[in-house]
Amino acid sequence: MITLSVNKKRYTLDVDPSMPLLWVIRDRIGLTGTKFGCGMAQCGACTVHVNGEAMRSCVTPVSIVKGQEVTTIEGLSGDIGRQLQQAWIAEQVPQCGYCQSGQLMSAATLLREKPNPSDEDIDAAMAGNICRCGTYQRIRKAIHRAAMRNEKDVK
Ligand code: FES
Ligand code: FES
Repeated sequence: MITLSVNKKRYTLDVDPSMPLLWVIRDRIGLTGTKFGCGMAQCGACTVHVNGEAMRSCVTPVSIVKGQEVTTIEGLSGDIGRQLQQAWIAEQVPQCGYCQSGQLMSAATLLREKPNPSDEDIDAAMAGNICRCGTYQRIRKAIHRAAMRNEKDVK
Protein backbone atom coordinates (compact mmCIF):
# COMPACT_ATOMS: atom_id res chain seq x y z
CA MET A 1 0.00 0.00 0.00
CA ILE A 2 1.21 3.47 -0.85
CA THR A 3 -0.26 6.64 0.55
CA LEU A 4 0.14 9.88 -1.32
CA SER A 5 -1.64 13.18 -1.51
CA VAL A 6 -2.85 14.40 -4.91
CA ASN A 7 -4.40 17.86 -5.14
CA LYS A 8 -4.72 17.87 -1.36
CA LYS A 9 -6.70 14.63 -1.33
CA ARG A 10 -5.20 11.54 0.33
CA TYR A 11 -5.07 8.24 -1.52
CA THR A 12 -4.01 4.84 -0.22
CA LEU A 13 -3.44 2.55 -3.19
CA ASP A 14 -2.45 -1.04 -3.68
CA VAL A 15 0.07 -0.51 -6.48
CA ASP A 16 3.49 -1.79 -7.48
CA PRO A 17 5.95 0.71 -5.92
CA SER A 18 7.81 0.89 -9.24
CA MET A 19 4.72 1.98 -11.18
CA PRO A 20 5.29 5.42 -12.74
CA LEU A 21 3.46 8.21 -10.96
CA LEU A 22 1.83 9.12 -14.29
CA TRP A 23 0.11 5.71 -14.48
CA VAL A 24 -1.15 6.10 -10.92
CA ILE A 25 -2.49 9.60 -11.56
CA ARG A 26 -4.23 8.72 -14.81
CA ASP A 27 -5.26 5.09 -14.46
CA ARG A 28 -5.73 4.57 -10.74
CA ILE A 29 -6.89 8.00 -9.60
CA GLY A 30 -8.57 8.98 -12.86
CA LEU A 31 -7.07 12.44 -13.36
CA THR A 32 -6.42 12.54 -17.08
CA GLY A 33 -5.26 16.15 -17.49
CA THR A 34 -1.64 15.02 -17.18
CA LYS A 35 -0.53 13.53 -20.49
CA PHE A 36 1.75 10.75 -21.70
CA GLY A 37 4.10 11.90 -24.43
CA CYS A 38 7.50 10.24 -24.67
CA GLY A 39 7.70 8.24 -21.44
CA MET A 40 11.40 9.15 -21.22
CA ALA A 41 11.55 12.57 -19.51
CA GLN A 42 12.09 14.21 -22.89
CA CYS A 43 8.87 16.10 -23.70
CA GLY A 44 7.38 17.48 -20.47
CA ALA A 45 3.78 16.44 -21.24
CA CYS A 46 3.60 14.54 -17.94
CA THR A 47 4.83 17.38 -15.71
CA VAL A 48 3.30 17.61 -12.24
CA HIS A 49 4.45 19.28 -9.03
CA VAL A 50 5.82 17.30 -6.13
CA ASN A 51 6.03 19.50 -3.06
CA GLY A 52 5.83 22.46 -5.45
CA GLU A 53 8.68 21.36 -7.73
CA ALA A 54 8.10 20.40 -11.36
CA MET A 55 8.66 16.68 -11.93
CA ARG A 56 8.31 14.34 -14.91
CA SER A 57 5.78 11.84 -13.67
CA CYS A 58 6.46 9.33 -16.48
CA VAL A 59 9.85 8.42 -15.01
CA THR A 60 9.05 8.89 -11.32
CA PRO A 61 8.23 5.65 -9.48
CA VAL A 62 5.22 6.20 -7.25
CA SER A 63 7.23 5.01 -4.23
CA ILE A 64 9.35 8.19 -4.46
CA VAL A 65 6.36 10.43 -3.77
CA LYS A 66 5.06 8.36 -0.88
CA GLY A 67 3.59 10.73 1.71
CA GLN A 68 4.35 13.79 -0.43
CA GLU A 69 2.13 16.44 -1.94
CA VAL A 70 1.50 15.94 -5.66
CA THR A 71 -0.29 18.62 -7.67
CA THR A 72 -1.64 17.98 -11.15
CA ILE A 73 -3.13 20.43 -13.64
CA GLU A 74 -6.55 19.77 -12.08
CA GLY A 75 -5.21 21.14 -8.79
CA LEU A 76 -3.23 24.11 -10.13
CA SER A 77 -4.63 26.95 -8.07
CA GLY A 78 -3.57 30.02 -6.14
CA ASP A 79 -2.72 33.40 -7.66
CA ILE A 80 -0.10 32.06 -10.05
CA GLY A 81 -2.30 29.23 -11.27
CA ARG A 82 -5.24 31.54 -11.84
CA GLN A 83 -3.17 34.19 -13.60
CA LEU A 84 -1.56 31.63 -15.86
CA GLN A 85 -4.90 30.09 -16.78
CA GLN A 86 -6.36 33.51 -17.60
CA ALA A 87 -3.27 34.49 -19.61
CA TRP A 88 -3.44 31.20 -21.54
CA ILE A 89 -7.01 31.98 -22.50
CA ALA A 90 -6.29 35.63 -23.35
CA GLU A 91 -3.36 34.70 -25.60
CA GLN A 92 -5.22 31.70 -27.04
CA VAL A 93 -2.15 29.58 -26.46
CA PRO A 94 -3.27 26.00 -27.10
CA GLN A 95 -3.50 24.55 -30.56
CA CYS A 96 -4.17 20.81 -30.17
CA GLY A 97 -3.72 21.29 -26.42
CA TYR A 98 -1.91 18.02 -25.76
CA CYS A 99 1.24 19.53 -24.27
CA GLN A 100 -0.42 22.39 -22.46
CA SER A 101 -1.01 20.96 -19.01
CA GLY A 102 2.70 20.20 -18.79
CA GLN A 103 3.52 23.68 -20.09
CA LEU A 104 1.35 25.29 -17.42
CA MET A 105 2.89 23.26 -14.61
CA SER A 106 6.41 24.26 -15.71
CA ALA A 107 5.33 27.90 -16.11
CA ALA A 108 3.90 27.91 -12.58
CA THR A 109 7.22 26.73 -11.16
CA LEU A 110 9.03 29.41 -13.15
CA LEU A 111 6.78 32.24 -11.92
CA ARG A 112 7.10 31.12 -8.34
CA GLU A 113 10.89 31.23 -8.61
CA LYS A 114 11.08 34.27 -10.91
CA PRO A 115 7.96 36.45 -10.68
CA ASN A 116 9.09 38.67 -13.56
CA PRO A 117 11.06 36.47 -15.96
CA SER A 118 12.92 37.67 -19.06
CA ASP A 119 12.54 35.97 -22.45
CA GLU A 120 15.76 34.10 -21.71
CA ASP A 121 14.46 32.94 -18.33
CA ILE A 122 11.30 31.68 -19.99
CA ASP A 123 13.15 29.91 -22.77
CA ALA A 124 15.50 28.24 -20.28
CA ALA A 125 12.74 27.18 -17.89
CA MET A 126 10.44 25.91 -20.64
CA ALA A 127 13.08 24.21 -22.79
CA GLY A 128 12.11 20.75 -21.53
CA ASN A 129 8.48 21.15 -22.60
CA ILE A 130 8.04 20.27 -26.24
CA CYS A 131 5.07 21.50 -28.28
CA ARG A 132 4.68 19.76 -31.61
CA CYS A 133 2.19 22.47 -32.66
CA GLY A 134 4.86 25.13 -32.10
CA THR A 135 2.98 27.41 -29.69
CA TYR A 136 6.20 28.67 -28.12
CA GLN A 137 5.67 32.34 -29.00
CA ARG A 138 2.21 32.38 -27.47
CA ILE A 139 3.43 30.53 -24.39
CA ARG A 140 6.09 33.17 -23.90
CA LYS A 141 3.57 36.01 -24.29
CA ALA A 142 1.18 34.36 -21.87
CA ILE A 143 3.86 33.92 -19.23
CA HIS A 144 4.75 37.63 -19.54
CA ARG A 145 1.06 38.50 -19.26
CA ALA A 146 0.63 36.36 -16.16
CA ALA A 147 3.76 37.93 -14.65
CA MET A 148 2.36 41.44 -15.23
CA ARG A 149 -0.92 40.48 -13.55
CA ASN A 150 1.11 39.01 -10.75
CA GLU A 151 2.97 42.30 -10.21
CA LYS A 152 -0.25 44.34 -10.27
CA ASP A 153 -1.86 42.06 -7.69
CA VAL A 154 1.15 42.29 -5.42
CA LYS A 155 1.16 46.12 -5.46
S1 FES B 1 5.87 11.80 -21.09
FE1 FES B 1 7.10 12.39 -19.43
S2 FES B 1 8.53 13.75 -20.28
FE2 FES B 1 7.44 12.97 -22.01
S1 FES C 1 -0.52 22.61 -28.49
FE1 FES C 1 -0.32 20.79 -29.65
S2 FES C 1 1.45 19.85 -28.84
FE2 FES C 1 1.41 21.79 -27.91
